[in-house]
Amino acid sequence: MADIGVLGGSGFYSFLADARPVEVETPFGPPSEPPVVGSLGGREVAFIPRHGADHRFPPHRVNYRANLWALRALGVRQVLAPCAVGSLRPELVPGTFLVPDQYVDRTWGRPQTVYDDLAVHTTAADPYCPTGREAVIATGNVVPTGTLVVINGPRFSTRAESQWHAAQGWSVVGMTGAPEAALARELALCYTSIALVTDHDAGTTPGEGVTADEVFKVFAHSLTRLQALLTQVITTLPTTPTCPCQHTLDNTPAASSESARLLAE
Ligand code: ADE
Repeated sequence: MADIGVLGGSGFYSFLADARPVEVETPFGPPSEPPVVGSLGGREVAFIPRHGADHRFPPHRVNYRANLWALRALGVRQVLAPCAVGSLRPELVPGTFLVPDQYVDRTWGRPQTVYDDLAVHTTAADPYCPTGREAVIATGNVVPTGTLVVINGPRFSTRAESQWHAAQGWSVVGMTGAPEAALARELALCYTSIALVTDHDAGTTPGEGVTADEVFKVFAHSLTRLQALLTQVITTLPTTPTCPCQHTLDNTPAASSESARLLAE
């Protein structure tokens, strides 16, 4: 069992001590990889690389529902979700960590709910966990707010799309933050996005535009800093979270009994 979950790049495998894989079945098929459970910062942490260990799942093919379900089935109630993003503002330079407080979901064709046979309408006004966000912000050296626009990918934005995103006042652009955050809330999980800026998106600078190589390179160079940040955050997360995320389903008994039933299967 674990109480904290991390969804991220495969670089995280090496962060966990005594990591052991755990097979978990979900109603949505297998997660991207069997979760590994190990210790970090004195806590039991479960990790799933959302693109698979060999990065075989593009953002629109990630089984977000299975990943979150598997974490929940292992006892996880708080999820930290690092992701690579492009900057839509000149001052957000590569290497910056930003803690989004809002997102705009421009993805399509991705399953949006774990309750296919129930009308469950979760609150999404403040889509991220306040406790998790505070813990990340308290580490210092992060940009404490911003809006993450999530595109479907797998291609990057055209210059016009990127300029449009920037003109809306949005801060960063990524491909995996949605519907992951919404599905986490449906499972009454605390969910905190930690966005690592890897590039300036196409519309914000002249030149050729972003490449996947650039994104991977900057992400790889930032792994040590990400590990330090996650370790610090994990040590400060409460052992029993009391924030509203945990009570998302309190007034939707059908959904909580459905999730209880499925988790008991
Ligand atoms: N992930 C990293 N950089 C990105 C960008 N510029 N657009 C979309 N997703 C990204």
